[in-house]
Amino acid sequence: MSLDAPSTNARYGSNAGQPLTRRDGVLKVTGRATYAADNHPDGMLYAVTAVSRIARGRVTSLDVEAAKAHPGVVEVMTPASRPPLAHDPDEKMPPFGFRIEVLQDSTVRYANQPIALVIAETLEAATEGAALLNPQYDADEPRTGIDDGLRFDPPAVGVGGPPKAAFGDVEAGFANAAQVLERDYVTPAQYHNAMEPHAVVAEWDGDHVMLDMPNQALAMSCASYATYFGIPPENVTIRSPFLGGGFGSKAIINGPQILAILAARTLKRPVKLVLSRAQMYGPVGHRGGTWQKLRIGLDNEGHLTALHHKSISATSSFDDFLEPAANASTHLYASPALLSEHEGIRLDTGTPGPMRAPGEASGSAALEVAIDEAADACGMDPLDFRLHNYAETEPGSGRPFSSKALRECYAEGAKRFGWAGRPLASRQMRDENGFLVGWGMGTALFPCPHFPAEARATLRADGTALVETAGADMGQGAWTALAQIAAEALGLDPDQVEFHSGLSTLPDGGVAGGSAHTASAGLALNNAGKDAIAQLSELATNDPASPLFGAGNIGVEARAGRLYRRDDETRSESYAEILARAGQREIVGTAKASRDPAAAEAHAMFSHGAVFAEVKVDPDLGQIRVTRLVGAFAAGRIINPRLVESQYFGGMIWGVSFALHEEAIVDHRTGRIMNADLAEYHVPINADIPSLEAILIPENDPFVNAIGVKGVGEIGITGTVGAIANAIWHATGVRVRKFPVRLEDIIG
Ligand code: MOS
Repeated sequence: MSLDAPSTNARYGSNAGQPLTRRDGVLKVTGRATYAADNHPDGMLYAVTAVSRIARGRVTSLDVEAAKAHPGVVEVMTPASRPPLAHDPDEKMPPFGFRIEVLQDSTVRYANQPIALVIAETLEAATEGAALLNPQYDADEPRTGIDDGLRFDPPAVGVGGPPKAAFGDVEAGFANAAQVLERDYVTPAQYHNAMEPHAVVAEWDGDHVMLDMPNQALAMSCASYATYFGIPPENVTIRSPFLGGGFGSKAIINGPQILAILAARTLKRPVKLVLSRAQMYGPVGHRGGTWQKLRIGLDNEGHLTALHHKSISATSSFDDFLEPAANASTHLYASPALLSEHEGIRLDTGTPGPMRAPGEASGSAALEVAIDEAADACGMDPLDFRLHNYAETEPGSGRPFSSKALRECYAEGAKRFGWAGRPLASRQMRDENGFLVGWGMGTALFPCPHFPAEARATLRADGTALVETAGADMGQGAWTALAQIAAEALGLDPDQVEFHSGLSTLPDGGVAGGSAHTASAGLALNNAGKDAIAQLSELATNDPASPLFGAGNIGVEARAGRLYRRDDETRSESYAEILARAGQREIVGTAKASRDPAAAEAHAMFSHGAVFAEVKVDPDLGQIRVTRLVGAFAAGRIINPRLVESQYFGGMIWGVSFALHEEAIVDHRTGRIMNADLAEYHVPINADIPSLEAILIPENDPFVNAIGVKGVGEIGITGTVGAIANAIWHATGVRVRKFPVRLEDIIG
C-alpha cells in the first residue's frame, strides 16, 4: 500500500494549501494501480451470481444438475445448499445496518436479486453454468409505482436520521400568509454506476480471511464480516488501496460479496466475484425515488411565513433506507415555522442506500425550484429573494452557523456569472442562433459530519516520516490531501512522508462518506503528527546538548524537518540530529480524534455554496443544453485547491446528470429495470458540460475541527439541480417538477 512514485510538483511555502497533483496519479494512468479484481491468488476460482428475472414471487426450480454438469463448474450455491452464517442476515447490524440478501430462501423481492452462485475454474464456465440454471418462477404482480406500494411511517430516514423536524406554528403561518404555494416534485431512482464494479477476491487461511475489495469503510466492514462469519474482527483483513468510484455504494456490506467469501471458505480456495454492470442494479443500493410536496407561505413583503416539505421516499419491501429528502429544508431559509417529514413506500426493488448527497440531492432539487417559484410569485429576483430570506442563524435551533460564508458565495458567484441585469420574466433572452436562453440559481448546502478516526505518525532516524491510517481513496484524492495534512503537522515536505492507507490493519481511518473523510482522517493524522513532534520537542528541550535546551515554555516550531526555538530562529536542530543524539531509531505519534462535542452542540456546521446556471433550449425541439455553470463554495480550509475544484466539478456534473440525464426506467409489467447498462442509463459526457467554474471562497471555521476542514465532495450536487431547472423555466416559461427534465416536458 506504499506510494513511492516520485512527485513532479514544484512547491513553495507550506504544504497544505498547495495544488499538488495526485500521488497516485502516475500509478493510475500507467495501469500500475491494482484494483480488487486485478488480484489473482494461486488456485483462485470464479464466482458468478445468477439473478432473478422477476421482481416479486418465488423461484420454483433451478436446474442445478445442468449447471454442475458443465465443464469447469465446481459448485452451485442455492438456498437449499447455502452454508449457514454466524449471524442472521435478516437481522440488521448497526451502524449502517442493512438486511442482507444471501439466498435465505426462494422468495424474490426484486429483479436482479441473486438466486444462486455458481463457482467454477474459469469465469466463462461460471457464467455459462449460471445461464444453465434455467430458473422457473411463481411470479406475483410487481409493485413499482406511487399508487401500488405499501405506505408506512418510518421510524428513521437515511442512516438513522430523524424522520421529522418541526418548529413554530406551521398552520398559523399558512393561515396568515398573503399567498401559499403548493407544489409537487418527483425524483427518480438512480444507480451509483461507479466505473469499477463491486468486486471481491476472498482468500481464507484457517479462520483468517483476506479480502481484496473496494471499500469506503474498512474498520466497520471488518466488524460486519467478522460477525457474519463468526470470527474476531482482527481475523478479517481488507485491502482497498484504490476504488474506481464508490458514491456510498461501497460503504455498505452487500449479499453477493458475502456469498463469494462464504464460497471461498467452503471450497477452501480463493474466490473472485465481480458483478456485471447489470447485476449492480439491485443488490448494491441505489438512490430511491421520491415524491415530494412543498408548501410555502409568503407574506406581502416576500418573506416566508411557513415551510412544509414532505417526501414520500421509496424503499424495498424488506428494508428501510429512505432518502431523507425533506431534511434539505430544515437548515437553510429563515422560515418562522417549519415542518419537514417523510413517509415510506415499499416497492419491489432492491433496497436503496446512501448515494452521493443522500437526501440533500433530491431534497435540494425540489426546494430550490420551489424557492424559485416563490420568488417569481412575489415578483422578486431569485437571488434577492434568497438574500431576503437568508437565515442569520440555523432555523429552528437559533444556533449560529459555525461560519457565515453563504452571503459571500452568493455575491461572488453572481458576480462571476454576470447575474446582474437578468430579466425577471421568462422567455426574454435568445442567442444568435435563436435558442432560448435562461439563467437560474440554487443554494448549495451540505452538513459537516465527522467520524472518529485514528492515525499513527512515525518520525524516522533519517528525518523522514511514515504516516498511516486506513483511509479510502475513491478518486477524491485522499492519498494526496491526507498526506499533505500529515506533512504539515510534521513540518515536512509531502515527499518526505511515506503514506500508508487503504488497508484495514492500519489505524482506523473512519468512513469515507458524508464528505467527511478529509476532515475525519485528516484530523487524526494531524494529531498523530503533532504528537510525534511533541515527543521530539521533549527530547530536544530537555537535552543540555541541544541548541533548543530549556525552550520548554517558550516552545518550538516544526518546519522543514527542523525544530526552531520560537523566540530565536537562529537556534534550531534537525529531526535527524535530535533522534541520533538521543539514540532513538524512531518516534511514534498516535492519535484518536473526533469532533469537540461542545463545539458541535453550540454551532450549526455546514459547507455552503451558490450555483448559477445558464441553459439554451431549442424552441422547436425542446433540446436543453447547459452552457455555463458557476459555483461558489465555502468549505473551511482548503488543503489542496486542485483536488477541491475537481470535487466541486464532479458534484456540479452530477447535478447536470440529475437534472437532465439520470433515471432508472422500470418496466411496470415486470418490475425490471430496462436501462441497466451505461448505454441507456444516461449520464453526461464531455459534450454535455461545456463550461464549468468553481470559486473557492476562503473560509476560516475554527469550530468545525482543529484543522478547519469541511467537506467538499457532495455539496456540488446540491443547488446545481435546482439552478438548471430554474434556468430552464427562465428560458422557456415552463416549470418542470419532475426529474430528469426531458425535452417532451418542454414542448409538451
Ligand atoms: Mo457517500 S453517499 O457519503 O459515499
